[in-house]
Formats: sequence, structure tokens, C-alpha cells
Amino acid sequence: MHINVMKNNRRLLTWTMLICTTLASTAFAEGSQASRGEMLFQTCAACHSALGDGIGPDLTGIYGKKAGSRADFMYSEALKRSGIVWDDATLRAFISDPQAVVKGTTMTFPGYPSPADVDAVLAYLKQLN
Ligand code: HEC
Repeated sequence: MHINVMKNNRRLLTWTMLICTTLASTAFAEGSQASRGEMLFQTCAACHSALGDGIGPDLTGIYGKKAGSRADFMYSEALKRSGIVWDDATLRAFISDPQAVVKGTTMTFPGYPSPADVDAVLAYLKQLN
């Protein structure tokens, strides 16, 4: 009886440790992806400054916003009329190839071709929300 309790406790401990390790490494993976995204965002930051005085609009809080909706930025008609709402899917498509998603956008950036790079930028953009 006593031995059985010990055995069960040990099994519980093993599971707890396994779950903790998994959670910790997931958190680490997300954190490091966002920091890789921050590095990749340097290219974007050439135009998109958080101060709102760049060539491109400030991207703070971009998730859930309608495209072209900041009052302090002169957007192209193409982007304003796109009807896009920014979420994972629309941002992923736009960052991969802006002109393919919004023909005539004044964002003269060719896009990040690597899906992994785009995901890292999205992880970083989420932190700006
Ligand atoms: C060469 C300058 C430039 C670069 C580099 C650039 N952008 Fe842009 N971006 C713009 C401009 C200009 C607009 C406004 C486009 C329009 O009005 O058609 C814009 C618009 C956007 C929008 C829509 C914003 C809104 O309020 O609807 C998003 C999202 C965006 N850019 C993300 C990015 C990301 C992420 C990167 C880097 C991977 C990037 N941009 C790189 C110039 C740039």
C-alpha cells in the first residue's frame, strides 16, 4: 500500500515536470519568435515608425483595425477601399506580397517571401497591440 502511493506520487511528479517543461519551452519559442520578428521588423521600421511620423502609418494596435483607418495618415485610395480588416490571415497575405493583396497600394515593399519570417513579424506585431 505504502509503496503504491509512492509509485503514484512519482508518476504524478514525472507528469508535472513533463508538462512544465513543455509549457516553458512553448513560451520560450513564442518569445524568441517575437524577438526574431522584432529584428525582421527593422526593415518595416524604415517606413513604419511608432512615432507616427514615418513614410508609412504607425502600426501600433493594427490587429482588428480596418485597413487605412488612421486619421493621421494619408492612405492610398486602393488601401482605403480594400475593405480589409487586419487579422492573422490578412496581415500574413499583405506582408508576403502587398501588391498582390491591394493592387495600387503605396507600400513599396516587395514582401517577405518566407512564411517563417512573416509569422515572426506577426508575433512581433501582436506585441505592439
Ligand atoms: C518603403 C516603405 C515601407 C516599408 C519598408 C513597409 N511599409 Fe507597410 N506601409 C507603407 C505605406 C506607405 C503604407 C500605406 C499604404 C497605402 O496607403 O496604400 C503601408 C501600410 C501598411 C499596413 C496597413 C496599415 C493600415 O493602417 O491599414 C500594414 C499592416 C503594413 N504596412 C505593414 C508593414 C510591415 C509588417 C512591413 C515590414 C515587413 C512593412 N509594412 C514595410 C510603407 C512601407
